[in-house]
Amino acid sequence: MINAQYPAKRMRRLRSSQWIRDLVEEHSISIKDLIWPVFVIEGKNKRESIASMPNIYRYSIDLLIEEVKKAYDLGIPAIAIFPITPNEKKTNCGKESYNPDNLVCRAIREIKSSVPKIGIITDVALDPYTSHGHDGIVKDGIILNDESVDVLCQQALVQAKAGADIVAPSDMMDGRVKEIRKALDLSNENTMIMAYSAKYASAFYGPFRDAVNSSSCLKGDKKTYQMNPANGNEALHEVALDIQEGADMVMVKPGIPYLDIIVKVKEQFKTPTFAYHVSGEYAMLRAACDNGWLDYESAVMETMISFKRAGCDGILTYSARDIATILVNK
Ligand code: PBG
Repeated sequence: MINAQYPAKRMRRLRSSQWIRDLVEEHSISIKDLIWPVFVIEGKNKRESIASMPNIYRYSIDLLIEEVKKAYDLGIPAIAIFPITPNEKKTNCGKESYNPDNLVCRAIREIKSSVPKIGIITDVALDPYTSHGHDGIVKDGIILNDESVDVLCQQALVQAKAGADIVAPSDMMDGRVKEIRKALDLSNENTMIMAYSAKYASAFYGPFRDAVNSSSCLKGDKKTYQMNPANGNEALHEVALDIQEGADMVMVKPGIPYLDIIVKVKEQFKTPTFAYHVSGEYAMLRAACDNGWLDYESAVMETMISFKRAGCDGILTYSARDIATILVNK
């Protein structure tokens, strides 16, 4: 296209030096936008690496507390805790998920007493606890909806009672937000709900499933409950339902391949909207950077600004502590 106003209109004037670029900058990323997902294991003084997620570790509760303290000192407002359940505790209906003394509940209580001011988010889904790796109960090869929701409510309740500030249903069963809200209210728990509303059946969760040790158990795929990556309108229906059912915040997941969905959700609902920059996205970035093909600092900051530009209020990212360190030293 011809620029009819040229030479009077020259877009490059506003890019000519750093101070003017700063002045006209439309978006920014702050440490306050970050949620750090962490993996917790049983035991004491344990730190395990995860092959597909370089620089990310599974920590026992005692060591995790030290890491969470560092995150809090950097200014990170919240963490999301994911437990690794020993295989012998996994069952078809995932009953360990609502044991009030399970690993995640113990982690919540101990972190709350050591780092009381950091926000704690917990995942509500059965996959860390089921022998088949699905997010719900399986019968004759079918993932049962309403029976799973009953268990999810019990799971959300033990997490809330242990001190979780936000429960985040990531299971994609129909109607779960409504039932979880009801269960929380009946117990006088004022816990917030961050709904994984538009969660796609994605190839990018692979490293996470390695991290929580559910990839070896998973039978089949999650396509009967997680969304088809080809669909956009459907995400808006999911978000609308979750808001009606009582979600305080919504999430789109994964992040970068679904920026278009984030834009639409924010434009239509104007509700607090989060993105999960998932394990596979982290692994891709890290692998390219570790090979010297991309510069980690600039690639990760460009990734974060894309979420803000799309309309996100916050981002769950394994890079949260790295980003906070970059921002603190700026
Ligand atoms: C469990 C859950 C998953 C993730 C978050 N919660 C995996 C899945 O649905 O299979 C993925 C997070 C990531 O890849 O970083 N329901």
